[in-house]
Amino acid sequence: GTSQSVSNLVVAWSESNKHGDSLNIRKFPDGFIFGTSTAAYQVEGAWNKDGKAENIWDRLTHGDPSLITDCSNGDIAADSYHLYKRDVEMMRELGLDYYRFSLSWSRILPTSFPDKINEAGVAYYNNLIDEMLKYNIEPMVTLYHWDLPQKLQEMGGWTNPHIVEWYADYARVAFERFGDRVKYWITMNEPREVCYQGYGGVSMAPRLNIQGIADYMCTKNLLMAHATAYHLYDKEFRPKQGGSIFITLSAHWYEPATENDVLAAEETNQVESQAQGFPRSRLPEFTPEEVEYVKGTSDFFGLNHYSTYLAYRNESVEGVHDSPSYYDDIDVIIYQSSEWEHGASSFLKVVPWGFYNLLSKIKEDFDNPPVIITENGFSTHTTGLNDDKRISYFRRYLSAMLDAMEDGADVRAYTAWSIMDNFEWMERFGLYEVDYESPERTRTPRKSAFVYKEILRTRTLDF
Ligand code: NOJ
Repeated sequence: GTSQSVSNLVVAWSESNKHGDSLNIRKFPDGFIFGTSTAAYQVEGAWNKDGKAENIWDRLTHGDPSLITDCSNGDIAADSYHLYKRDVEMMRELGLDYYRFSLSWSRILPTSFPDKINEAGVAYYNNLIDEMLKYNIEPMVTLYHWDLPQKLQEMGGWTNPHIVEWYADYARVAFERFGDRVKYWITMNEPREVCYQGYGGVSMAPRLNIQGIADYMCTKNLLMAHATAYHLYDKEFRPKQGGSIFITLSAHWYEPATENDVLAAEETNQVESQAQGFPRSRLPEFTPEEVEYVKGTSDFFGLNHYSTYLAYRNESVEGVHDSPSYYDDIDVIIYQSSEWEHGASSFLKVVPWGFYNLLSKIKEDFDNPPVIITENGFSTHTTGLNDDKRISYFRRYLSAMLDAMEDGADVRAYTAWSIMDNFEWMERFGLYEVDYESPERTRTPRKSAFVYKEILRTRTLDF
């Protein structure tokens, strides 16, 4: 069958990569764990099934399908709502230690509030979690991965300070229903993208486009909501349930374009790695009590990392660069070198040393926190099982991560994005290809799935 021919390819590939004596085997430390990741809207489908209510991504994709590259939506997506057993089988095939997925707020609480719990929605997650645990695959659960209930959006969404309580009520239901078995909780996925792109811009739901105001309001409320869930878990649930809870930030690496741009790059890195990295004048004020309340509310530094940019200001780099963009607030221009290899997503250039630099900077700036890589991965436009570029990306990024760890960075876990092709808010990232032409949404491992499996089985990387 197809899997057989793909594993033959892998054998051929690893043979061709052996360089006799120069083969260098790098070992991951004991206790280091590996997973893969998805998010509810990107894989579940069943958008209005069994009592699920509408969320802001349902509204966006139904309203104007042309906004999404291939006019797709999450109505069916990878149909994981029905195919979760196959998903768990894939996790077993890969030999995962854990699997990161997110809960859909509007599936669990169709009114958005805990007055009515949708037992069918809860049952779906119970089934998924129990199936995983049968095979010792740990759940790592994101509470909020971008799919806000539409009703809450109509009340201002993340710009309304009341959302702090609404979110905490939802978090409580999740801890109560799933916390006996879930030991890794992620409060928010990529707060900066939620606020900056969804409220300040138009590239994500709810496309509010009120730059410099709504994004800042969103930022404060989102951080307060995160901290509230943290304290709730810490006080009421952790003593019994004993898990950990953290936030996941996305950060590119920004390298100075020239030696004159050290400050420009440094300031851009700061904006990226801090959810609250906006000029203070427009960020709603945090009282000293609020600052204390937010401080220290993350057991791990959750990091999504994909790529690197060059940063400059003051005309220090001459000439035109491929699609440069601007950080108005700090007056910095960023771009990517056209010489770097790239994936399908425009932002995805292959720059493993940027990952090394970022991990080293996190180590230095934040007193070497324990880091969980919650996402890292490579996109392609085309379907096809022979994904050498994805394999090369994973191997090179894992190797850069090991370099950083050897230099002292405290990285505890690595999560590949994604276990399968899904509704990418644009392209394909899967270790498993999903056949979107078939109603069965057939999943077939790509060559990269076999390579990832081999890395996990041996806990080594060879070069
Ligand atoms: C980060 C997001 O968390 C995830 O949802 C998305 O699919 C990946 N980046 C790839 O773009």
